[in-house]
Amino acid sequence: MFTDSCFEVIEARVPEPGDGEAVVKVEYLSLDPAMRGWVRDERSYLPPVQLGDVMRSGAAGHVVASNNPELPVGAAVMGMLGWQEHALIGGNTGAMANVLPEGIHLLDSLSIFGSTGITAYFGLLDIGQPKEGDTIVVSGAAGGVGSIAGQIGKIVGCRVVGIAGTKEKCSWVVDELGFDACIDYRTENVADALADNCPNGVDVYFDNVGGDILDAALQNMNDFGRIVACGMISRYNDADPEPGPRHITNIVKRRLRMQGFIVIDFWARFAEAAMQLAVWAGEGKLKNRVQVVDGFLSAPTAVNMLFTGANTGKLVVKL
Ligand SMILES: NC(=O)c1ccc[n+]([C@@H]2O[C@H](COP(=O)([O-])OP(=O)(O)OC[C@H]3O[C@@H](n4cnc5c(N)ncnc54)[C@H](OP(=O)(O)O)[C@@H]3O)[C@@H](O)[C@H]2O)c1
Repeated sequence: MFTDSCFEVIEARVPEPGDGEAVVKVEYLSLDPAMRGWVRDERSYLPPVQLGDVMRSGAAGHVVASNNPELPVGAAVMGMLGWQEHALIGGNTGAMANVLPEGIHLLDSLSIFGSTGITAYFGLLDIGQPKEGDTIVVSGAAGGVGSIAGQIGKIVGCRVVGIAGTKEKCSWVVDELGFDACIDYRTENVADALADNCPNGVDVYFDNVGGDILDAALQNMNDFGRIVACGMISRYNDADPEPGPRHITNIVKRRLRMQGFIVIDFWARFAEAAMQLAVWAGEGKLKNRVQVVDGFLSAPTAVNMLFTGANTGKLVVKL
């Protein structure tokens, strides 16, 4: 887990923007399980955050000073702004942010229309390739990505079974989000409960957690099923990698396809996803829940809520 001793609070002058640069006043920080991986000193899809660097983080705010006509003062922006109250972007800083279209709330830009919703969209539709009538299982079902992935599964005409860590979370995804069923993995035998709740087997497993739950899904997959390896949060705090799932041979026997992806692989198509998500949200088919924790200095503690399961929906810090 992260501890306060991983971080140092530093006060510095807010920089003046140079040529092509702008200063953003950060208002919300996105908290993501991936942050745990970003501080590991090992090869990954992004270089590790170095000791002494500002913690990497998605964030949103407004431009307060600018020497860049594409980032005018007052513009609402979202980007990798980091854990800081003011971020210098543009020019030669290597940091950039996207100007949000009129009417998009900063919180939505970090959740349903940000990488959370877009991960759910491409993960389920492009990697999972569900067909109408398929059975989809989503772990981390009451979290940011899982809650949206499951709702998209319903929109495209599938049976959707969630897996989450409490009865309350399960009730929320079934009663409020329209999942067909939800398994509380802390009190139920997941492999048996999947067999009960998926009478036609599992065609698509959207994996947010890995570990024992992935193993339970592997036991229930249909021939030619697809496993969307979106995340494996149950393993992110492991000091040493655990052995893999016991039922991995089912990948051969049932001719499964298991594919990992990182949302930035789909960068060129982000607008397509955001627009479709906006249409579904506008039609009332997609609900977005954001859990907001107050105060910049609560970020180091709040990020651990992702690992204890204390969050429901997308977790964000309000500065
Ligand atoms: N591939 C990509 O590009 C991409 C992009 C974004 C996110 N992700 C991945 O998507 C997953 C969800 O991310 P998110 O931001 O939406 O977080 P989230 O689901 O809102 O929060 C994480 C949730 O994981 C569950 N969890 C934590 N430890 C667990 C364990 N040991 N076993 C089972 N469940 C556990 C907790 O819910 P419970 O109470 O249900 O345990 C917790 O609320 C993560 O694995 C993340 O790395 C991938």
